[in-house]
Amino acid sequence: MNKTILVTGGAGFIGSNFVLDWITEEGTAIVNLDKLTYAGNLNNLASLENDERHKFVQGGINDRDLLSQLLKTHKPCAIVHFAAESHVDRSIHGPEEFIQTNINGTFHLLEEARAYWQELDEKDQAAFRFLHVSTDEVYGSLEADEPAFSETNMYQPNSPYSASKAASDHLVRAYHHTYGIPVLTTNCSNNYGPYQFPEKLVPLVILNALNRKKLPVYGDGLNIRDWLYVSDHCEAIRNVLAKGRVGEVYNIGGWNEKTNLDVVHTICSILDELKPNAEIGEYASLITRVKDRAGHDRRYAIDAHKIEQELGWKPKESFESGFRKTVKWYLDNLDWVKNVTSGEYMHWMKKNYTEEIA
Ligand code: NAD
Ligand code: TYD
Repeated sequence: MNKTILVTGGAGFIGSNFVLDWITEEGTAIVNLDKLTYAGNLNNLASLENDERHKFVQGGINDRDLLSQLLKTHKPCAIVHFAAESHVDRSIHGPEEFIQTNINGTFHLLEEARAYWQELDEKDQAAFRFLHVSTDEVYGSLEADEPAFSETNMYQPNSPYSASKAASDHLVRAYHHTYGIPVLTTNCSNNYGPYQFPEKLVPLVILNALNRKKLPVYGDGLNIRDWLYVSDHCEAIRNVLAKGRVGEVYNIGGWNEKTNLDVVHTICSILDELKPNAEIGEYASLITRVKDRAGHDRRYAIDAHKIEQELGWKPKESFESGFRKTVKWYLDNLDWVKNVTSGEYMHWMKKNYTEEIA
């Protein structure tokens, strides 16, 4: 079996970071299947334009014929499945696409993976992996004094996004137990870093601050997330793919529980230092509380002991170093930002923030 891997959603935020990281660290060929929705952006992969190891295919994971053809042609030894609708607020405004891509799409991908896998010889069947990239949001919301999510926590998804991811996790699990496909599932906490679409909190705050716009904080700003720098997530996925026990789930997190206000203040003080603006004074003066998200989960936290102890992975970036790198990346890549903040983006901003900051 050759060493080619099939990646889905590899033009999105984490997927493109993973593709770049894989080419540097592993160097084997990647077939990158991505529909290029508003969240997919080939500019993220511009550095691979003339690299034969990266083959980009525009298409969706509900296209069974395309999936079948790609698997037969490239004979990958693994599928790493990132493709998804990923933004909770969009899932509140319109859940349909989340069901189509996250649930039906994962089902179709699993069906084609099964057909492909069943035709492999015994040795290749044993070596094959289907790695499903999922989220800690499937576990629901924690009270302040509850222990962090472990792999055995009950699933209690609260948003259409997390419910659709939970459904896909269950399908992946079932395909292992029923058909024997060698699957792995990772449930990771909130990522931040280069190439994140500016609908998510971190890039949104950086860009609004640079444009002297208000920095919208939902509700009291005391919701907690566990932040992980994206390259640490990519390295964790590579570890799970190489050494994870088949059929197992691995939680991935940064041991960085912060309130949203902590995150926004951290970004503001890094900007105060790297891009001082005399007219604004301190960027934190732009922070504005806006209407809370419907059903807003209070706290997420990951217990990452399993992946650390079994696979020897640990995050390399601290909260401070990761946020500094991230702010710097956005300051250095304003052309990338310009490309993604046109038409569809402006429409989304008006829809989600209405009169409060539009
Ligand atoms: P993203 O929204 O930035 O990227 C998603 C990518 O999937 C885009 O390139 C998009 O074009 C592609 N896509 C969407 N629908 C598709 C379809 N039907 N067929 C093929 N491609 C399609 O998302 P992200 O933040 O990079 O997240 C990637 C994965 O990681 C998702 O599965 C998400 O649930 C999971 N995850 C994300 C985070 C996070 O903090 N961002 C944390 C944990 C897990
Ligand atoms: P987000 O980046 O959307 O990730 P998720 O909802 O998947 O955790 O949001 C992170 C946190 O920031 C979440 O608690 C919601 C909050 N938030 C705001 O306060 N204001 C915003 O404008 C956005 C987009 C998010």
